[in-house]
Amino acid sequence: MKFFIDTANLEQIKEANDLGVLDGVTTNPSLMAKEGVKGEENILNHYKAICELVDGDVSAEVLSTDFEGMIKEGEELAKLHEQIVVKVPCTKDGIKAIKYFSDKKIRTNCTLVFSTGQALLAAKAGATYVSPFVGRLDDISTDGIELIRQIVDMYGYYEFDTQVLAASIRHTMHIVQCVEAGADVATCPLSAIVGLLNHPLTDKGLAQFVADAKKMN
Ligand code: E4P
Repeated sequence: MKFFIDTANLEQIKEANDLGVLDGVTTNPSLMAKEGVKGEENILNHYKAICELVDGDVSAEVLSTDFEGMIKEGEELAKLHEQIVVKVPCTKDGIKAIKYFSDKKIRTNCTLVFSTGQALLAAKAGATYVSPFVGRLDDISTDGIELIRQIVDMYGYYEFDTQVLAASIRHTMHIVQCVEAGADVATCPLSAIVGLLNHPLTDKGLAQFVADAKKMN
């Protein structure tokens, strides 16, 4: 399973990349706004800076909600850097835009997906990635991981190439459950990625090894 980091924070992206296990980055307008990125030129420069930090795919979301606007923005984003994947919301205009981009060999990430029906349309339109939001479903007492499992099964059965990118991952257990459900990618906050390392027996075992190593001097 590939690991993407879900942030627009350059320091966190660098820290995750330095671990050597990072495969890409996802951003969204909320994450960009959180970093104080404002204005078209600054937005494009920020995406460029992210692409220069990592080797993998970088999802950059369109801000328009109408077909024409999405096309204009998406083409500009795709031109920016070969690592850019155009992130498009799962709406009627979004699905049309994904089909348009797919025909032009522009890679896309269909975002804000909360059902297998939406994931089916995204795959049929030719999305490179589909992003079901696990945490936001859990927030409304619906099983987000179960949706990942259903989409993975459906794509396998019909042999769609679209990759399942589990999004809205909130903690380490979500990551472990995504592995079990067969997600292709999980996009996670840095805390969840680093949190996978936590184990008291590792800490205890290392303390013992360090103590015993001193006896060998
Ligand atoms: C996905 O690509 C989104 O950017 C993100 O995972 C949403 O996460 P949230 O529900 O924690 O905001």
